[in-house]
Amino acid sequence: MAETITIIDDRTGKKVTVPVTDGVFASTALRELDPNLRMYDPAFLSTAACQSSITYLDGEKGILRYRGYPIEQLAEKSTFLEVAYLLLNGELPDNDQFAKWDYDVTHHTMIHENMRKRFVDGFHYDAHPMGMFISAIAALGTFYDDAQDVFDTDNLNKQILRLVAKVPTIAAMTYRFSSGLPFVLPNNSMSYATNFLNMMYRIGDDYEVDPVLARAMDVLFILHADHEQNCGTTAMRVVASANSDPYSATAAAASALYGPLHGGANEAVVRMLTEIGDVKNIPAFIESVKRGEGKLMGFGHRVYKNFDPRATIIKKSAYEVFEITGTNPLLDVALKLEEVALNDEYFASRRLYPNVDFYSGLIYQALGFPVSMFTVLFAIPRTVGWLAHMSELLRDDEQKISRPRQWYTGVDERNYTDIKKR
Ligand code: SDX
Repeated sequence: MAETITIIDDRTGKKVTVPVTDGVFASTALRELDPNLRMYDPAFLSTAACQSSITYLDGEKGILRYRGYPIEQLAEKSTFLEVAYLLLNGELPDNDQFAKWDYDVTHHTMIHENMRKRFVDGFHYDAHPMGMFISAIAALGTFYDDAQDVFDTDNLNKQILRLVAKVPTIAAMTYRFSSGLPFVLPNNSMSYATNFLNMMYRIGDDYEVDPVLARAMDVLFILHADHEQNCGTTAMRVVASANSDPYSATAAAASALYGPLHGGANEAVVRMLTEIGDVKNIPAFIESVKRGEGKLMGFGHRVYKNFDPRATIIKKSAYEVFEITGTNPLLDVALKLEEVALNDEYFASRRLYPNVDFYSGLIYQALGFPVSMFTVLFAIPRTVGWLAHMSELLRDDEQKISRPRQWYTGVDERNYTDIKKR
C-alpha cells in the first residue's frame, strides 16, 4: 500500500492526501489547500530542497556513502582522484577511464602567470589564506571566456576539470605567499596529494614527500570530498541555480565553508585546544560551555546524532601520521576532552559527538600546516563535491532558480513623513 499523509485545512474543511516516499512528501500539496500557504522552516531543518544521488547520510546510524560506497571502504581502498571521478560521474572508473582522468587532471594543474605573479601580490602580507583562496577561485573564471556556458556539458566538464586540477595549486600559492616563500610549480610526475605537499613545502632540491604523509593527505581529501546538502553545498546549489559560472559558484560555496560553524571549525578546534592548554583545565572549560559561554568546537552536527564516521577514520589516521611526525601535544587534551564530553549529560542529552573537524586539525598541524590553512585544506577536496552537485542540479528538470518565500512580520503600510515632523 502506498504510504500517504492527509492534511486537512480546518479553516475550509478542504483536505489533501499526498504520497510519502522515503519520508519525503511534495510541499505542492499545501498549495492545493491554499495557494498562499507556505511552510516556515528556518535553516531548512525539515526541507528537502532537491533530489540527489551523490551522497547518502544516516545521522542515527552514522552512515556516510558516496554513490553507494561506504566511506570506510573508500578511505581504506581508494584514492582521492578515483573518488573524485566517482562523485562526478556516478561510477568508479575502469583502468582506461582513470588513466585519462589522471592525465587530464595532472596536465591542468598550472595557473596563469598573471594569477601567480600579479593577482596574489595584491593581498596584504598577512592576508588569511582562505580569503585569498576564495578570491582566487572567483578570479580564475575571468581567465576563461567559456566559463559561463554551463549548459554545454563538454564545456562544463572542462571547467570542472580545471577547478579540480587547480585548487591544490591555488591553495599552495596562498600558503607560499603568506610565508614569503617562492611559488613551487606543479610537478606532473607526482600524484595529486604528493604534488600538493610538494608545492606546499619544497625548499631546494632535496625535499622528498613522505609516502605515508601523502597517503594520510589523500585519505583526508577522500573524507572531506562531499557531504550532501551541507551549508557550503547549499550555497553552491543556490548560486548555480541562477546559471552562474562554476568558478563564481565555487567561490560562494567556499565563502560559506569559511564560517566557524562549518568548515572553519577545524581551525577553531585547534585554537580551542591551544587555549585549554592542559588536561587540568578541561573541567573548567566544560563548565563554561555548559554555562553557554562558548561551544565545544568540533562537536555536534545537524545530521549526525551519533559518531561522525569520518571522525573515527581521522582519529585512526592521526596515529599513523604521528608515527612519522611525532605526536601532537594537543592530542592528550583532545582525547581527554572527548572522553569527558561523551560522559557528560549536557552533551549526551543533546546528542553531541565529535564531528569531522574535531581531530582533523591535529593531523594538519602534525603535517606542518599553519592553523590558517586548515579550512583551505577542507575546500580543496570539497570543490569536487560542490561541482558534482552543481552538475546534478543543472541536469535536474525539476530545478529552477532558487527563490524561497518568507513570513513577513514587519509593520503594515504607513505614509512617509518629512524629517522635520519625525
Ligand atoms: C561541518 O552539515 C554538514 O554536513 C557539515 C559538515 C560537512 O562535511 O560539510 O559535516 C562539516 O560543518 C561539521 C560541523 C563543524 N562545526 C562545529 O564543530 C562547530 C560546533 N558545532 C555547533 O556549532 C553545532 O553542533 C552545529 C553548527 C554543527 C550544528 O548545529 P545545529 O544542528 O543547528 O544544532 P543547534 O545549534 O541547534 O544545537 C542544539 C543544542 C543547542 O543547545 P540548546 O539551545 O538546545 O540548549 O546543542 C547545543 C546548542 O547550544 N550545541 C552545542 C554544540 N553544538 C550544539 N553546545 C556546545 N558545543 C557544541 N559544539
